[in-house]
Amino acid sequence: MTAPQAAHLSRSLITWYRRHRRALPWRRSRDPYRIWISEVMLQQTTVKAVIPYYRRFLRRFPTLGALARARLETVLAAWSGLGYYRRARHLHAAARRIVEAHAGRFPRRAADILALPGIGRYTAGAILSIAFGQREPVLDGNVERVLSRLVLLRTDPRAAAGRERLWSLARALVGATASPGDLNQSLMELGATLCTPLDPACAVCPLTRRCAARAAGMQESVPAPRRRRPPIMVRSSVALVARHGRYLMRRRQDTGLMDGLWEFPALGANGGDDNIDRPRLRSLGRLATLRHSITYRRIVVEVHRARLLSEPRGAGYRWVTPAAARRLPVSSLVPKVLEALRDDAGRRGRVTAGALRPRRAVQRRAPRRVRV
Ligand code: ADE
Repeated sequence: MTAPQAAHLSRSLITWYRRHRRALPWRRSRDPYRIWISEVMLQQTTVKAVIPYYRRFLRRFPTLGALARARLETVLAAWSGLGYYRRARHLHAAARRIVEAHAGRFPRRAADILALPGIGRYTAGAILSIAFGQREPVLDGNVERVLSRLVLLRTDPRAAAGRERLWSLARALVGATASPGDLNQSLMELGATLCTPLDPACAVCPLTRRCAARAAGMQESVPAPRRRRPPIMVRSSVALVARHGRYLMRRRQDTGLMDGLWEFPALGANGGDDNIDRPRLRSLGRLATLRHSITYRRIVVEVHRARLLSEPRGAGYRWVTPAAARRLPVSSLVPKVLEALRDDAGRRGRVTAGALRPRRAVQRRAPRRVRV
C-alpha cells in the first residue's frame, strides 16, 4: 500500500469512527491504567459482558496503586465470572512491577510495556496508541478480519506469513494518521459492528469501494473460518454439604485450570484431582442439574446435597455462607449452584412449610469424572 493510499483509508476510517462509535466507558478516558484494564478484559470477552465488570473493577481499584496494594484474592474475586483468570493474576503482578520498576507510573516505552506480565503485541499497541497517541498498530481478531478482506488475503491470516502481512498493513494505516488511538479503534469497531464474520454490512461500510474481498464477492468467505476445537461433553457432580447455614467449600490447588478459585467439593473421589486429603462424601439426593461451559468443555453438572463421611482437613477448606461465597474468587459455576440452592429452598418452603429436609438418596449412575 502506498503512503497516499494509507492516508486516504485512515481518513475514511477515522471520519466513520467519530460519527458511529459506540459510547463505551473506557472511551471516556486516556488514562493508561483504564485503557489497559479494558483491553485485557476485552481480550476473551464481549463488550457487553465486560462493561459491568469494568465499572465494578475500577470502583474497587480506581488507580494502579490501588490494584498493586490489593491482595491477589480480592483481585480474583473482582474477576470472578469473567473467566481466563490468568489475566487477573497478570494484571496484579504487572501493577506491582510498575510500582517497583517505574515508580507507579505506567511506562510509555513499547519495550517496557511488553516486558510486563500478560502484555503482548496487541495490548501494548492498544495502550500506546489510545493512551499515549503513539503510532503503534494493533491486530486482534476483528482487525484481522477487516484487513484480510480489505486486501483479499488468500492465505491463512493466523499463519506467520499472513499475520506479518496484516501487521505491516496495520502499521501503515496507523503510521498515516495524527490520531492513532482513533484509527486503531476504528478498525476494532468496524470489525465488531459492520465487518462481521457473517453477513457483513458492506452497504454502509466506509471501506466498501476499496475492499478487494467485496469486489470479488468473497467478503463472507475471507478469512477462512478458524477451526475451533470441537466441544467435548463431560459430566460432573458437586456436593452441597450444609452445617449451621454454611456450606463446605474448597480451594483449587495449582492445577492450571482455575487454580486458586473456591468451589464446592466434587462428589466422589478420583479423576486425578489435586487434593489428596479430600473428605469422603455421600449423596443425600440430587438437587438440580445445570449446564456449564468452560472453553470447549460442555459440562452437565449434577448438584447434590451431601453429607460428610470424613472431616475435611487443611486450610484448603472453609465453611461459607451463600452470601460470603459470592464475595470469594469463584468460577461462574458457583453462582449457578447458589441459584439452584435458592430455587430449591423456595420450592421446599412452599411444599414443606420451611423444613429443609434432604431428599431421599437417589441411585446414581457413576458419571465420568472430570475436573470442572
Ligand atoms: N475490543 C478490544 N478493544 C476494544 C476497544 N477499545 N473498544 C471496543 N472493543 C474493543
